[in-house]
Amino acid sequence: MTRAVCPGSFDPVTYGHLDIIRRTAELVDEVVVAVGDNVAKNALFPPQERVVMLEAACAELPNVSVTLFRGLLVKFCADQGIGLISKGVRTADFSYELQMAQMNRRLTGVDTVLFPTDPRWAFVSSSLVREVATLGGDVSEFVPPAVARQISARVGEPAG
Ligand code: PNS
Repeated sequence: MTRAVCPGSFDPVTYGHLDIIRRTAELVDEVVVAVGDNVAKNALFPPQERVVMLEAACAELPNVSVTLFRGLLVKFCADQGIGLISKGVRTADFSYELQMAQMNRRLTGVDTVLFPTDPRWAFVSSSLVREVATLGGDVSEFVPPAVARQISARVGEPAG
């Protein structure tokens, strides 16, 4: 059985991520979406909330599960017996994604497939979605409706 991990921060999950998860799920038997358990300073959602959002967004994909991971991605892959990393790549991230793929392969032999991002989502990133939403822009075109509602609720909250 072929298993792949789709790792990321997913803060928040976008249609770009979901396209990569769906394309991976068509190629392998099982996909584990792994949410990095890192709490960045400018994070919009805590990691566990991102997991719940992703579970809902991937509910119609029977061979996809979602979990948190902490530490090195290659260690997570080894612990889970997963031999493949799957990621989307936009023009701007290509050299860094290539570098990470090469580093991960050198570390443990785990290989990476890089899917060219669908042109529809080429300009979409979680960081831009966060920035646009935080400044009052409409991001409903780039994320599932439930995620858009959670973003509105979060950015509408008074800073605490
Ligand atoms: O969605 P992102 O922020 O681009 O995801 C990046 C992520 C979490 C996939 C990447 O930072 C990662 O793999 N982090 C785990 C730590 C690690 O293994 N670092 C070495 C990478 S070669």
